[in-house]
Amino acid sequence: MGAIMAALVAVVVFSALHLGLNPPSSVETIDSTRLQLGGEFSEGNLGTSAAADGAITVRLLAQQYAFTPNCILVPADTPVTLRGVSADVVHGFLIQGTNVNTMLVPGYVATLTTRFKAPGDYRMPCHEFCGVGHQGMWAHVRVVAPEAFPIAQAKQEPVSCERR
Ligand code: CUA
Repeated sequence: MGAIMAALVAVVVFSALHLGLNPPSSVETIDSTRLQLGGEFSEGNLGTSAAADGAITVRLLAQQYAFTPNCILVPADTPVTLRGVSADVVHGFLIQGTNVNTMLVPGYVATLTTRFKAPGDYRMPCHEFCGVGHQGMWAHVRVVAPEAFPIAQAKQEPVSCERR
């Protein structure tokens, strides 16, 4: 028993220190009560932005019982960094058909990187019970061909496919 425990601990330490694998959303903290008052996750910053070098970052906010934006627009076959926060309770963050699957915990920023292989619409359900409206907490990810993504606009301001 002791040897098995030691082996498991060794695997965790090895993967953390040598392979750089750490649990997501455990490092970067944020004040969840002040998200809408300014800063990275204020309303005008939510959505998909492109840096000057073309790097794509999606910022999203989970709140009982919706994600903002509720339709995330991203280019296919491009590295995408997703940064998500919760304004209230723990929500689930899962994009079906991809490796994106984590929790949005108040007080922390969850950061993941992925690459969407093919254009299409992917469902993004909240998969962590978060209250009476949990069942209806959904968003979509719309993946478009790289040449169809409005990169010039995304360099100016965040873009999304949200219907307003
Ligand atoms: Cu949010 Cu379940």
